[in-house]
Amino acid sequence: MGQEVDRQWWSEDTVAVVTGANKGIGLAIVRQLAKQGITVVLTARDANRAEQAIESLKSEGLDDRVVFHTLDVSREQSAHELAEWLRQTYGGIDILINNAATSSNEMGANFEDAISIMNTNYLGVKNVTKALLPLARNTPAGARIVVVSSRAGVLKNLGNNNQLKTTLSDREHITEDLVDRSVAAYLAESENGTWKEEDWPDMRKAGYAYPYRSYAVSKMAVNAYVSVLHNNTRLAAAGGKSKLINVFSCCPGHVDTDLSGHLGPRTVDQGADTPVWLALQSPKGGSGKFWADRTEIEF
Ligand SMILES: NC(=O)c1ccc[n+]([C@@H]2O[C@H](COP(=O)([O-])OP(=O)(O)OC[C@H]3O[C@@H](n4cnc5c(N)ncnc54)[C@H](OP(=O)(O)O)[C@@H]3O)[C@@H](O)[C@H]2O)c1
Repeated sequence: MGQEVDRQWWSEDTVAVVTGANKGIGLAIVRQLAKQGITVVLTARDANRAEQAIESLKSEGLDDRVVFHTLDVSREQSAHELAEWLRQTYGGIDILINNAATSSNEMGANFEDAISIMNTNYLGVKNVTKALLPLARNTPAGARIVVVSSRAGVLKNLGNNNQLKTTLSDREHITEDLVDRSVAAYLAESENGTWKEEDWPDMRKAGYAYPYRSYAVSKMAVNAYVSVLHNNTRLAAAGGKSKLINVFSCCPGHVDTDLSGHLGPRTVDQGADTPVWLALQSPKGGSGKFWADRTEIEF
């Protein structure tokens, strides 16, 4: 039997924000949402690249549904400027898709690369979510936050690091502080050179050319942060203080984009399918969980 999912609740008044949307999966997400008649805010850190992206939507007549606003997810100030503009322009938002991310082909645990990856992939998600959460509209369908994460972040990739595995697998009691401390431990070990290969992810074991260690840790952290958000929004709602917000994490699969070195077999539209499905159809009881190919998978 299929998932029980939402019927169409969205309209042209629905406002969706997509980060890192000037190319790749982010742009495909924008295209698919615009095709549904939704107002889509395409955000990117570079206006010229964003303009080219919007131009590419013209042939399908979708450019009218898409509005650009600048956003560098790694800068808190940039996220607040976007939030203020959204508040003034639309009054609120219905959907946030945290898609922006970066990676590197580091072999060891290069500290500069690790910092840059965490700033975008983990702190970036937190910056944007915290700035935009107050704008989530209080609707019967509920607002939706989708994090485009990766299977690279599954906890079994943590190797021998059983203590961290135990901390991060207790999804009921996970806190933002525990996730921050896990990231800080990785960064400290990569800075002082004490990290042990067997304690941290190595994507070469899954057939990739590089370990993508910092990338995998950053995705582990955002997956855990999705559980934190889910727990916090549910607790607030139970206290009668808040609105319904559904929070999802997902893996788009291995997609043909710059980030994958164009090695992924999937098209960007295939990669965008599950994030868009989660944003619009939001499987019942699926908030706080990890999804791929429209199916729940293990963190
Ligand atoms: N491709 C895959 O096989 C694959 C697999 C699993 C998960 N994912 C996830 O899918 C998502 C999309 O990746 P993709 O494959 O489409 O990669 P991509 O084509 O390289 O796109 C990444 C996007 O993120 C943006 N970005 C990077 N740093 C940013 C920042 N500080 N502020 C704002 N935007 C920033 C990039 O903008 P610029 O053009 O300015 O750099 C670009 O628009 C990522 O979360 C990635 O981890 C991808």
